[in-house]
Parts: sequence; C-alpha cells; structure tokens
Amino acid sequence: MKVVHTRAELAAARAAESGRAVALVPTMGALHRGHRHLFDRAHENPSAALYVSIFVNPLQFGPAEDLAHYPRPIADDLDMCAAAAADVVFAPSVEELYRGGTPAVTVHAGPLGDILEGRSRPGHYDGVLTVVAKLFNLVRPDTAYFGQKDAQQLVLIRRMVRDLDYPLEIAGVATVRDEDGLALSSRNRYLSPAERGHALALSRALRAGQAAAPHGAAAVLDDARAVLAGTPQLQLDYLELIDADTFDPLDPQTGRGLLLVAARVGGTRLIDNVTLELGALPERADGMYSKET
Ligand code: PAF
Repeated sequence: MKVVHTRAELAAARAAESGRAVALVPTMGALHRGHRHLFDRAHENPSAALYVSIFVNPLQFGPAEDLAHYPRPIADDLDMCAAAAADVVFAPSVEELYRGGTPAVTVHAGPLGDILEGRSRPGHYDGVLTVVAKLFNLVRPDTAYFGQKDAQQLVLIRRMVRDLDYPLEIAGVATVRDEDGLALSSRNRYLSPAERGHALALSRALRAGQAAAPHGAAAVLDDARAVLAGTPQLQLDYLELIDADTFDPLDPQTGRGLLLVAARVGGTRLIDNVTLELGALPERADGMYSKET
C-alpha cells in the first residue's frame, strides 16, 4: 500500500496504473466498520485498484462545528486501509489540497443543499461537493463509493456527477449498524454509554416507521414520532419522509420513501435513515397507533 500526501505523488501513483480501473472511497478518516464495508464493496471489482482518501475537509464544517476536535487517528486509519488491501491512500494536508487558500470558486449544491441537513448546516453540502469534485479531478476514479447513511450527500453527489458530466459511476452502499441498531458513524465515539443508549431511539423510530409503511405516510410519521417522544434526552432536529429518489415531497399513500431523522444526543449530532415502501394496506384511523412500539 502506498501512502501519498501530495498531488505530485498521487499523480505518479495514478499514472502507474496504466489503464487499470480505479475505485475511490473518499473519507474523513476515523475509519470504522462502515468504511471497511465501503472498501469491501469497492473490491467486488477485482480488477480495480482501491484508492482511499483521508482528509478532514474544513469547508464542510460550520463555525460552531467540531473541526478542531474531529478525530484524526491516522495510524489506526492506515492500519485499517492496509488490512482492507487498499492500493493507495491519499492523505493531503489542508495546504496541499487548498493550495490557493480558501477557494473563491466552489461547487454550489443548489436547492437540495438547503433542506434537511443543509437547513441545520448552511453551506455544508457546498463544502462536501467542492472537496469531492477536487478529489474526482485529482484521482480520476472510474467508480466512487459513498454510504447511504448520509443519503442527502449521496443524492447530491449523484446530481453533481450528472449535472457537471463527471465521467464516473457513483455506488451507494448500505448503512452498517451495530447489533443494537445504531448506525455506525465516526461521531459515535463521542457518546457516553448513557448517551449511546438514548441514541438507539433513532434506529428504533425508523424501524417503527418502516413497520407502519403499508398504512401510508401519516402512520409512518406517527409511529416514528411516538418512539422519539419516549426519549426526551434526544433533541430532535427533524424527522421527515420524502421521495427516496428525488428528495421531493411524497404522495402520502404510495411510493418508495426515505424516512430521515437527525437529532442531538448531548453534544453529538447524529443522522440516520431507512427506505420504505408505502401503501399496500388501507390508511389507519388518525392517531390510532400513536404509542411507542
Ligand atoms: O462522508 C464523508 O466522510 C465526507 O463528507 C466526504 C464525502 C469524505 C467529503 O469530505
């Protein structure tokens, strides 16, 4: 495994592939089993070289967010990349990637960047798309892999690739969960044992919503909300049900939906989502099932 820190080293590694396909997994480090799953998915194309980028991107952090404290366990991260048989790890410094300082020209995520996560984190997705565009330009991958856990990020990256004609495929990879249901996230390490217990209400609420899906959108939201209300230690930011493919509002009774939740547990903000199929059964009477499941 080659570890490269500069554009020049990366370009040399990339040139040495001479025609071999390249799979890229962009990360901010603090790697966990969810990332390992992305690496393994990338290896499903046995002829592709696996490139992993590790870069904590300042552009996607708001002024009140945890940039300075974001975990950077680089030795452990490199061990995980080696264990996953990565071919190249690109770990640039901020100065190397943003060599002209804060960029004046950036990618704008458009209206989809202003809803849900974007409403709570203004500019976040502009920062994400800008760094992802730079990584695509520098690495020139054939396929890039992103987790479904940040569903809005995934849909925006697909949109950028389509709208700006990036010549690569985007692969979405299912969320990996701990046995108790908690979606894996680099931020889970901030949770105390008690907070971790409270955080489980997020996946429980999503499962309750999923179970109610045959009865339509009102039942989904009703049951998911009831679970969240049972954990007052969660500060709910949003619980929303939208069209899974377009992120548009959903016909209340039918269609493939995406149920998304974001909440703060102590000082840690967590997000999660599940897809569901609405509408095989009749709508329920209002409030009938408004109890914790
Ligand atoms: O999902 C992440 O880890 C980051 O948003 C990404 C895609 C690596 C861009 O910094």
